[in-house]
Amino acid sequence: MKGLHLALFAALAVVSVHANPLRARNFGNGNGNSASTPWPPIPDPQSYTKPDGPVRVYPVSVNKGLTSEHANATISLKNEGDLFTRESRSLVLFLQVERSQSSPFAVDYGRDVAGRPFFEVTALGSPYAQLEVKYTEAFNGLKVNYSDGPFPFSNGLSSEFRVETLNVTKTGELASFFIQGSQRWESVKLIKGQGVEIKSAGFISSVDEAPIASKPGYFASSNSNMTDIWNLGPRTQQLACFPPNSQPSTWEVDSKKGVYIRGQKPATTVKGANAKNYTLAFEANIDYGGVGWRLDTEIDNIFAEGPYLVLTSNYPEGSFKNYNHSLVPPNTLVLGRGWSLQNQTTLTGWHLDSFPVGFDVTEKTWHNIETDSPGDGTYTVRLDGKQIAHFNLTAYNVGARPPYFPPCAYYSFAFGPWQDQAAWYRNVNITLASGQNWYSNPMTSEDIKVEYGVATNDFTVCSDAGKRDRYSWLGDRQISARSVEAVGEFEYVSGPAEQAFARQIASGEVPSNMLFSQLDPLGIQGRTESLDLILVDWDSKFFDVIYHYWQKTGNDSFLQAHWGDMRAMMAYVMQTSIDPKTSFSTNGGSGPTISSTALNIIALEEMVEMGSHLGHSSAVAAYQVQANLSRKALEGLWNETGGFYAFPGKDYIVEDMAWIELAKIGTAERRDKFWSHLPSRQVPGGYVDPPAENKFDLLGGGVKISMNIAAELLWALGERGDGKTAQDLVKRTYGPMVERNVNYTGAYWEFLSADGTYPGNDLETAQSHFWGGFPTAFMMEYVLGVKPTTPGFATFEVAPISGWEDDWVEGRVPTPHGLIYTAWGYDSAGKLHMEVTAPKGTTGTIKPPFEGSFSVNGKAGQSGTVKVEGGRVKVTVVQQ
Ligand SMILES: *[C@@H]1O[C@H](CO)[C@@H](O)[C@H](O)[C@H]1NC(C)=O
Ligand SMILES: *[C@@H]1O[C@H](CO)[C@@H](O)[C@H](O)[C@H]1NC(C)=O
Ligand SMILES: *[C@@H]1O[C@H](CO)[C@@H](O)[C@H](O)[C@H]1NC(C)=O
Ligand SMILES: *[C@@H]1O[C@H](CO)[C@@H](O)[C@H](O)[C@H]1NC(C)=O
Ligand SMILES: *[C@@H]1O[C@H](CO)[C@@H](O)[C@H](O)[C@H]1NC(C)=O
Ligand SMILES: *[C@@H]1O[C@H](CO)[C@@H](O)[C@H](O)[C@H]1NC(C)=O
Ligand SMILES: *[C@@H]1O[C@H](CO)[C@@H](O)[C@H](O)[C@H]1NC(C)=O
Ligand SMILES: *[C@@H]1O[C@H](CO)[C@@H](O)[C@H](O)[C@H]1NC(C)=O
Ligand SMILES: *[C@@H]1O[C@H](CO)[C@@H](O)[C@H](O)[C@H]1NC(C)=O
Ligand SMILES: *[C@@H]1O[C@H](CO)[C@@H](O)[C@H](O)[C@H]1NC(C)=O
Repeated sequence: MKGLHLALFAALAVVSVHANPLRARNFGNGNGNSASTPWPPIPDPQSYTKPDGPVRVYPVSVNKGLTSEHANATISLKNEGDLFTRESRSLVLFLQVERSQSSPFAVDYGRDVAGRPFFEVTALGSPYAQLEVKYTEAFNGLKVNYSDGPFPFSNGLSSEFRVETLNVTKTGELASFFIQGSQRWESVKLIKGQGVEIKSAGFISSVDEAPIASKPGYFASSNSNMTDIWNLGPRTQQLACFPPNSQPSTWEVDSKKGVYIRGQKPATTVKGANAKNYTLAFEANIDYGGVGWRLDTEIDNIFAEGPYLVLTSNYPEGSFKNYNHSLVPPNTLVLGRGWSLQNQTTLTGWHLDSFPVGFDVTEKTWHNIETDSPGDGTYTVRLDGKQIAHFNLTAYNVGARPPYFPPCAYYSFAFGPWQDQAAWYRNVNITLASGQNWYSNPMTSEDIKVEYGVATNDFTVCSDAGKRDRYSWLGDRQISARSVEAVGEFEYVSGPAEQAFARQIASGEVPSNMLFSQLDPLGIQGRTESLDLILVDWDSKFFDVIYHYWQKTGNDSFLQAHWGDMRAMMAYVMQTSIDPKTSFSTNGGSGPTISSTALNIIALEEMVEMGSHLGHSSAVAAYQVQANLSRKALEGLWNETGGFYAFPGKDYIVEDMAWIELAKIGTAERRDKFWSHLPSRQVPGGYVDPPAENKFDLLGGGVKISMNIAAELLWALGERGDGKTAQDLVKRTYGPMVERNVNYTGAYWEFLSADGTYPGNDLETAQSHFWGGFPTAFMMEYVLGVKPTTPGFATFEVAPISGWEDDWVEGRVPTPHGLIYTAWGYDSAGKLHMEVTAPKGTTGTIKPPFEGSFSVNGKAGQSGTVKVEGGRVKVTVVQQ
């Protein structure tokens, strides 16, 4: 506990102020008289200088004698089977639940960390040894064979596997090749050799490790749970947002030997796509374990149906002792389909067949591998000219693309070995049955990293999550960008937006998700076109991201630079999603929905506002016409008997309450009536629809709470001015994330179980996931109540929401002019006090959240609103 607190909330102390204008305060905060305020002095941002080299992060508890700062104790793994265990009693709280179950103990980092794992090996009692290492966010991952993986959804410049084996051949530093995207827990088991002593373990961090107290934005409350919940935002941002070139390529290219690929999701190219009736040929040199490839599979899409082939070696002496001989036996061609050879909750994979090769598949020698795909569902595989398998993929009858996913535009081949394997690949050819060469690549040039989408990230990117779906998803940023703005690092909104515009194609479409990797123009075109047409809403949400970014920063030049891109994107959205007859939006292909239509209305009207601001009023007139038509359409869905909005014959859903509110559809009376149904959807963990209406009941495993929908509800409750319900929602839905139990990560979760006790999609749940991370924004915009009233905070308001119960709250709100310091709280007589200090260049209006008179800086008998001149004295309001 102590260590955790140290790490998270290190220094709230007032220290020197940065020169950075965002952090600079225009004048003193006047904290001298803090004794008279119900809140503690509002701190300045802690000073922090980013270290030159990489930052290393260490466990908070491993073994006797460890401190929270460094894991310097020696861990001895004497015999095979020994686990790297912890005995420290300083963090008993985390593990007492598990102790009674005689489950393995583990290395605990106290919260999520990310980066390249390293171990300082101080002794090795055998010529070599092998360590099996697991990584997981939720503790339970350590109890299962595959930990909380594999996560083969994208080539996210990290390891897809959450278990890896390391060969120890000498003392000194032992580091993994891959980044592990985010985990709190790690276990290390000696599976071969003896006498391994590890003096220190940790991660060479791949993410920002600046203390949260050093960020421009800040929030604290008399209720420490609320403070903790706010802090989930900046930490999630650190785990999910990456500056350019911070996530290294996962392929290594040699100008002679080709490309060296370690076990990972097979990566694919658009260049050789859509061949029909062909042979894929390449040379492979297995370094250890085996080699893998795929054919006829979707390019970076949300499904993967082509065959997944893994050819294992003869596992010579020295091979990893823990190879799974039932899944990947030696000298075998293994056939799979779907995401992987294994399942991970909603990421389904099929292990269809195994073809024993019948002779030794040698390591460290070159082999010729050919696969025929005549296009009738059958495949023939030859190794060094000898046929080793022939199968009909369709005949296995599983793993085909479900009908609700529209067909993908591009199918291609892909390269990547299986877990704990590594191989060289070179001289790739696709030859059509006609003899024509379709694709040829010696794989010896660095540009293949860009072609196959495995190059380092060229833009600032924001993933949804640290560990999983490491794609740059567009739509979820509607929520996360607001929290990034609350923290004040606006480059994590504009940077990913620049990446998205850089991947817009001629149709106007901006892809709903993007690889982090730098891409070539063909790679961009193919990957964008390959995304299915059921995520057009993500483009609608992107308008809202841009709109709020503009509101917060006043960055007109960003709007100006991308105005043409935005117009093209709107043309794409209108054409693909809006039904011209009904004016409902369909998300591209999901049928008309309220949320899709409301999102469109919001986007259209924001375009009108932004366009008018830029002087393009006539160009945006058509948007208002469409918005009005769509408003009418939604208004027509009012069910007077039921008192809700829904398509005829359908029940209402909670998400629609949010969207009807946010788009301000119909009258306030009708919206109130609609919201009166919210309590009927209440469960201990928040609000959720019954299975029939719940789009996240993917496994049929019962309803779970989508944090994204919770975020939408919270935002809408802010717009309704209903602080009481909002606070209840925050406690139910986000409270479990700050409980210091084994599943705590210090970051926002993706799903919550309906009973509010655990991450809702079990081990697949991303526990540093940003699509629901709205409280960080909510505390700033609604609880402190600070919002711009003109873009860039030239004018702003301070209007705390009513019904929110805390003794006090305080914070720093980032603006382009500097920080707004504000707080409110109650004195012992129950009177509300407020203070606001604004930076030069801004003018604020305080709207006290109570009726009646108040004093302003000691001057009694005031009422109405209070003006705050930026750059002048602190304004203090005291209820009379
Ligand atoms: C652990 O080792 C590091 C690096 O050698 C050192 O800076 C640190 O003080 C040590 N910590 C403890 C608790 O011994
Ligand atoms: C886990 O691994 C062990 C040892 O390899 C094996 O016996 C067991 O069947 C595996 N369990 C599952 C669920 O795959
Ligand atoms: C914080 O949340 C925990 C768990 O829900 C609860 O037990 C505790 O009372 C809360 N603390 C405050 C100050 O409300
Ligand atoms: C691929 O084709 C090139 C010529 O186009 C040839 O040099 C190379 O050997 C071929 N590779 C394989 C594996 O057949
Ligand atoms: C591990 O190292 C030993 C000793 O160098 C070697 O014989 C063995 O092949 C290595 N195993 C793997 C999988 O790299
Ligand atoms: C994964 O789950 C599906 C059912 O959803 C099952 O058909 C399939 O066999 C499972 N795959 C593996 C490798 O166990
Ligand atoms: C492959 O299997 C499917 C499904 O059983 C069958 O319809 C098809 O005819 C088979 N193709 C060939 C070439 O045998
Ligand atoms: C593939 O091409 C060969 C040669 O042109 C032809 O004989 C064969 O029928 C084709 N196969 C399919 C499934 O079209
Ligand atoms: C309106 O709501 C009522 C009550 O839930 C329901 O019985 C009725 O079918 C709904 N009307 C339509 C047109 O869906
Ligand atoms: C932690 O999460 C797991 C699911 O991953 C759940 O089964 C377990 O009950 C949770 N533990 C606690 C203490 O909440």
